[in-house]
Amino acid sequence: MPDLTPDFEKDADSLRRRAMQSAFELMESLCEGTLVVDRDVRIVWINEKYAHKLGLASAEEALGRPVEEVIPTSQMREVVNSGRPILLDIMQLGNESFVVTRIPLKDEAGQVIGAIGFALYDRLHYLKPLVSKFARLETALASAEKKLAEERRAKYSFSCFVGASPAATEVKRQARRAAQLDATVLLLGETGTGKELLAHAIHGASPRAGKPFIGVNVAAIPETLLEAEFFGAVPGAYTGADKRGREGKFKLADGGTLFLDEIGDMSLALQAKLLRVLQEQEFEPLGSDKVVKVDVRIIAATSIDLQKRVAEGCFRSDLYYRLNVLTIAVPPLRERLADMEALCEHILESISQRNGTPPREITPRALDLLRGQDWPGNIRELRNVLERAVMLSDSPRLTAEDIAAVMGIAPTVAIAQRPVRRYEEAVAELERQLLREALQAAAGKVPEAARLLGIGRATFYKKLAALGMSGK
Ligand SMILES: Nc1ncnc2c1ncn2[C@@H]1O[C@H](COP(=O)(O)OP(=O)(O)OP(=O)(O)O)[C@@H](O)[C@H]1O
Ligand SMILES: [Mg+2]
Repeated sequence: MPDLTPDFEKDADSLRRRAMQSAFELMESLCEGTLVVDRDVRIVWINEKYAHKLGLASAEEALGRPVEEVIPTSQMREVVNSGRPILLDIMQLGNESFVVTRIPLKDEAGQVIGAIGFALYDRLHYLKPLVSKFARLETALASAEKKLAEERRAKYSFSCFVGASPAATEVKRQARRAAQLDATVLLLGETGTGKELLAHAIHGASPRAGKPFIGVNVAAIPETLLEAEFFGAVPGAYTGADKRGREGKFKLADGGTLFLDEIGDMSLALQAKLLRVLQEQEFEPLGSDKVVKVDVRIIAATSIDLQKRVAEGCFRSDLYYRLNVLTIAVPPLRERLADMEALCEHILESISQRNGTPPREITPRALDLLRGQDWPGNIRELRNVLERAVMLSDSPRLTAEDIAAVMGIAPTVAIAQRPVRRYEEAVAELERQLLREALQAAAGKVPEAARLLGIGRATFYKKLAALGMSGK
């Protein structure tokens, strides 16, 4: 090591100070904005040009104020707290972008005593392509995130479940009650009866509504991928896996609701894994030995007979009992024919809204024809029939003939299927009409009305009372 004379030390020290001073001056001259804060992140110095840019009358106005009061998006506090610089960052302020570099200032002991920030704005034209690309990417990211959040919100509420028949009302009552509880829900019902719609509505009315609703259609995903789909995978967990790994649906649904659709189609191996998650609320992603804990509410649905699958040994009975806590049987359309008219109106309205055309009406005979069908595909099938009828017919009111043409059946079925009034009801209606006419002809005098009809006065009074009519 060379001998360092006191003279050398003195020169070196002054050179070091000079270097620091020059570097600072150079940075300052290169940058339009310079700002210094103390350890409490209050502004101790700012150059005039930057102060004007930030809308202040003078630099003095900024002194002593917390930096965020002057620059709301400032990251200086983070630099002071972490002691780490942030180099060449892009800071958004209103509509403008700044390129900023922030460096912590430390004392001899290495303690952070403040920070200095340099901002480029007028000279940004070199960086314009980069900055505008950044701005575009930020906008794209924000809209993608918004869309994703919307996708994960419940799409339907209870008001979307059309129907006031006793069966529909009961289902809605049970589903509303399920929304208030946090237990597993099992929705059973034929295809197209509205199980998915109800799952959304239950989530949307539950305390978890603000958290994600994630759906997995068990039947639509190949068996080999289902485990990764559920539990996620670490990078390179299996051949053909995403290199970056992936989040599983259980993790995505954390805090919210996971809708397991077509659960009856799940393999026995996966049923065992699912059972464990339901019991412990934890799992291991594929290729990982780290346990992940989640808080997920399960809503499961199936259109197949689960009890039969259990009896056949294709569905684990312990999983069945786990799922079968709050079970809601969604009735088929043929058991809620009283809702046919309301459903048709709702569907026709949604079709016309989508097409931007005036809503079509439907004739009573057409409704009768519809009520007479079996509807194995339930409301989904009804929707398809109405969609096709709207496409094929130009008339403002869909007729029985329009419906029959679409369904490939005879329109005459409608007449055979007309609901027959009960005998007593029809006779009573006829009697009421006779008494009313007689009373009118006799100017409201009962003895005269009775005489006109050829019956006794007492009989006339008895009939009036039985039919719920008054003498006038
Ligand atoms: N009560 C209802 N009111 C209005 N629309 C309904 C009703 N029930 C079902 N729908 C509509 O019928 C279609 C099928 O409903 P959904 O997908 O919920 O049935 P699903 O029971 O899940 O059927 P699958 O078992 O085939 O999956 C959807 O377009 C849905 O909006
Ligand atoms: Mg479904």
